[in-house]
Amino acid sequence: METITDVQTMQERCAAARREGRRIAFVPTMGYLHEGHLSLLREGRRRGDLLVLSIFVNPTQFGQGEDLDSYPRNLTGDSEMARSAGVDLIFAPEARDVYPAGYATYVQVEGLTETLCGRSRPGHFQGVTTVVCKLFNIVQPHVALFGNKDFQQLAVIRRMTRDLNLPAEIVGMPIVRETDGLAMSSRNVYLSAAERQQALALIDAIRLAVKRVGEGERRADALIDSVRQRIEREPDAAIDYVQICHAETLEDMETIDFDSVLLLAVRIGGTRLIDNHYLFQEV
Ligand code: PAJ
Repeated sequence: METITDVQTMQERCAAARREGRRIAFVPTMGYLHEGHLSLLREGRRRGDLLVLSIFVNPTQFGQGEDLDSYPRNLTGDSEMARSAGVDLIFAPEARDVYPAGYATYVQVEGLTETLCGRSRPGHFQGVTTVVCKLFNIVQPHVALFGNKDFQQLAVIRRMTRDLNLPAEIVGMPIVRETDGLAMSSRNVYLSAAERQQALALIDAIRLAVKRVGEGERRADALIDSVRQRIEREPDAAIDYVQICHAETLEDMETIDFDSVLLLAVRIGGTRLIDNHYLFQEV
């Protein structure tokens, strides 16, 4: 395994691998790796013969007052985990090399980015699509893997890839959870013990909604009400959004069907957590 920080070196290495006929599998991350990231890497190992991991805390996807400076970092620990997952190349560039002075080009996906996290984090998805597009141009992957944990992000990246004819196959992977159901996230380290307990309200609320669907409830507003009530029981929880959307268009649905996804963003103390689940799927 090798770690490369230089953009041009990385691009040349990947171009050479492609010319040699190697199939490049790519997992972009912001580091502080956990089992969720590892599940993507393992699937990438299966699907490609050069496995590339990027670790880059991308400044353009953080808004004013968000956690760019405090975002957890641990390149040594990440490298060990990457090695154990069979990574061939880690790309860990510096922000000043990804966005040199005078940088002026951004990728914007319309529509899909105007709801959910896009509403509460203006500019966030433009930062995500810009960096993912740049990383695709540097790494030139045949296949790139993303988690369903960031459901809207995956939808936006699929759309960008299609709209810009990027020659990468996009693979979505299931959410990896802690044994008690909390969706794994690098940001979970911000939670105090008491907040960690309250964070279980998200999966609990999802279970409640799935149960009500099992009992025959089909009205989105009724399901959203019960989810909100469950979360509001926690003293330090503040709901950002609870929505039931169509999995592909991300449009709000009034009556649920097999394409309905429940999506939530909740602040627990100072930590913003997201989660989602298809309403007709067992939890
Ligand atoms: P990051 O939050 O590090 O996540 C990297 C990838 O891991 C994303 O595709 C995300 O959906 C996936 N992931 C995170 N937690 C997961 C979990 N519990 N189960 C399954 N997959 C999980 O998402 C980003 O970084 C950035 O926005 C990025 C795409 C790298 C662009 O900067």
